[in-house]
Amino acid sequence: MDMYRKVLLSEEEIPKFWYNILPDLPKPLPPPIDPETKEPVNPKKLETIFPRALIKQEMSTERWIPIPEEVREIYTYWRPTPLYRAVRLEKFLKTPARIYYKYEGVSPPGSHKPNTAVAQAYYNMKEGVEVLTTETGAGQWGSALAFATNIFGMKARIYMVKTSYEQKPYRRIMMEVWGAEVLPSPSNKTRFGRMVLEKDPDNPGSLGIAISEAIEDALTHENVKYSLGSVLNHVLIHQTVQGLEAKKQLELIDEYPDIVAGCVGGGSSFSGLFWPFYYDVVSGKAPKNIRFVATEPTACPTMTRGIYTYDFGDTAKLTPLLPMYTLGSDFIPPPIHAGGLRYHGDAPTLCLLLKEGFIEPKAYDQISVFEAATLFARTEGIIPAPEPSHTIKFVIEEALRAKEENEEKVILFNLCGHGYFDLKAYQEYFEGNLKPYYYPEEKIRESIERIFKEYPWISNLPYLKI
Ligand SMILES: Cc1ncc(COP(=O)(O)O)c(C=O)c1O
Repeated sequence: MDMYRKVLLSEEEIPKFWYNILPDLPKPLPPPIDPETKEPVNPKKLETIFPRALIKQEMSTERWIPIPEEVREIYTYWRPTPLYRAVRLEKFLKTPARIYYKYEGVSPPGSHKPNTAVAQAYYNMKEGVEVLTTETGAGQWGSALAFATNIFGMKARIYMVKTSYEQKPYRRIMMEVWGAEVLPSPSNKTRFGRMVLEKDPDNPGSLGIAISEAIEDALTHENVKYSLGSVLNHVLIHQTVQGLEAKKQLELIDEYPDIVAGCVGGGSSFSGLFWPFYYDVVSGKAPKNIRFVATEPTACPTMTRGIYTYDFGDTAKLTPLLPMYTLGSDFIPPPIHAGGLRYHGDAPTLCLLLKEGFIEPKAYDQISVFEAATLFARTEGIIPAPEPSHTIKFVIEEALRAKEENEEKVILFNLCGHGYFDLKAYQEYFEGNLKPYYYPEEKIRESIERIFKEYPWISNLPYLKI
């Protein structure tokens, strides 16, 4: 054999610490704001929806956070995940680039999401919580939380965006197999859901609405807390097991990436992969200049066309205001198939790095994304989820550019989930029924104007003047 096909680590090599980027950011992270006080959120207030241990992690400026042994033990069910070299894709493209992908689809729910779901369920269980509520778009996050709560003897109540609930019955059934209760959102279970349905009985739902329902549920019930699958610091911290393992795997074969790429819905899979390499950059250990490239759909172009401001994380405005690139918290996404990428905002840490020029954002339409996904499946075998297929599209472009320029680039990307529950989307692509959506500029502006009209003081907050 003239080249490695995959690099594996042993179970003992699962990281013992997560990496936290907070002490290494180029500027202090603007704080989350309480809309009632117009001041940074008092952590005590968050205890109504999150356990204390996770609030502590959210605020922590410790660079290395120990992974509890009980969590590492559950990680051994699928971690360390393999690092593959895309040998057949490279050959097909006739590129001198070397393409590597970290494959998170080997977890039982089929994506990177259980890296944080297991940790979150564990900390909640330790504090006596019995039920976790959450939202899910594609169903990946919901199934990860259903899997994790079941392990620790808890229950999950999951508000699934109605379009996905209808498009993906098998994801719903998977959650039910692990003992979760799944409701199509907007639902009749919450006051907010009923209000949305009254106005518009055919509302297709959005992650923003589902988050509002899940938070309201946690706020109004005893021993019920809320769990978020992306965006917040503690979630992204848990995901760094991916990048820490990938670094070790590349080291074993004497490689280092020129490009680290991933898709962004809220930013957890991409951050989980790139943060440890970013640490190399800021600590002067990186042997190369690395490009960090984040991909998203043209239908939900948060990073490429969103506005950097404080906005709510949900539609009912129950969350604190977060500093981020946003399309507006009342955003109703076009019904594209990358359900996990249809969120109106992104992680505040990612947005700060984007604003400071550390990240290159790229947006692709879903037809070019499925074309890339199909080529990947036909060369590499694995059928990718629609979300990471946005990154595959970028990687193929970049590999072809390397061919033109005759450059031996090393590209690392995150294949953060498989697409075996997304076959309907592939079918629609083959039948020519997918549309290349572009979210209209004026809708973004109108939505942000509505927030500024309702909360005029947002534009005077000092924290964004960084
Ligand atoms: C497979 C997959 N990739 C990516 C995402 C996007 O989320 P994040 O940006 O937090 O990784 C999701 C979200 O559901 C997902 O299911």
